[in-house]
Amino acid sequence: MSGKPHAADPPARRALSAREISAELLDGQSRELLHALHLLTPDGKLNADARRKLKQINHFAGLLRPALHDVLDRPEPATVVDAGTGNGYLGLVLYELFVGPAGAGEVVGLESNAQLVDRATARAKRLGFDRMRFAATKVADYDRPAANLAVVALHACDTATDDAIVLGLRQEAKVVAVVPCCQAELANNLGGVRADHALGPLWRFPILRRGFGAHLTNVLRTLVLESHGYQVTVTELVGWEHSLKNELILAKKVQRGNSQARNQLKALLQQFPGIRMGLLDDWGPGA
Ligand SMILES: C[S@@+](CC[C@H](N)C(=O)[O-])C[C@H]1O[C@@H](n2cnc3c(N)ncnc32)[C@H](O)[C@@H]1O
Repeated sequence: MSGKPHAADPPARRALSAREISAELLDGQSRELLHALHLLTPDGKLNADARRKLKQINHFAGLLRPALHDVLDRPEPATVVDAGTGNGYLGLVLYELFVGPAGAGEVVGLESNAQLVDRATARAKRLGFDRMRFAATKVADYDRPAANLAVVALHACDTATDDAIVLGLRQEAKVVAVVPCCQAELANNLGGVRADHALGPLWRFPILRRGFGAHLTNVLRTLVLESHGYQVTVTELVGWEHSLKNELILAKKVQRGNSQARNQLKALLQQFPGIRMGLLDDWGPGA
């Protein structure tokens, strides 16, 4: 079998041409960084998995651009926290595109896996990203204050997304932007809601319960953010063919609080007596 690409191959299956790779790059994005992240192979190829990852990160960066510029244009130096940073892809890209060129501010990657932190730290150093650092910590344990904060999280596992939201709420971040990962917390306790509940058929079967639980989780996240004074949008990150975990919740702080959103949150929760979600403990309608 020839390794030669066939014209009918879907783009994700074959190696991309140099022109196609260039089309994937954002203005100001270097091939050097993509090599360092192993998204480009040593001979400059972009394979299917790397292309998917690059699409997610670049779409996230593109959608964040106006909000991040708002933060970076303020007089106080900005801190961009990438919660659950993993290999640091998103944080490093945000540094190269926005924080580095701004000449001030920093990017902090939070990651509970110390090995990944060591590797990402070495990578940032090699790239000369001197206002970027990584901390080996759980997101919930990170408490360094920042006056001008943006919190971002791409696929931070399960409730780590909520920890990122809480970090933003606690420090009144100017921007909170999360693309949640799979989430099980609500789905797990929806099973305990009364079986004769009028809405019960929505989560009767485990697969429906997972989907409905994830949907309800994201709805509750948006209402919590709104009730604490954020203006929220929820949009698709990339086409579903590139990722199934695809909802971008983008929140900008515009006021102290919002009693209408708080009342909506309260009313929605009354429909689901007995459900528990950590985010609601300190930041729910009673907070
Ligand atoms: C699915 S990966 C995504 C990594 C990266 N954001 C990306 O999109 O490439 C999730 C990462 O979050 C880290 N993580 C999970 N829970 C965490 C927590 N509570 N605090 C810090 N890191 C966490 C995991 O170790 C993992 O590296």
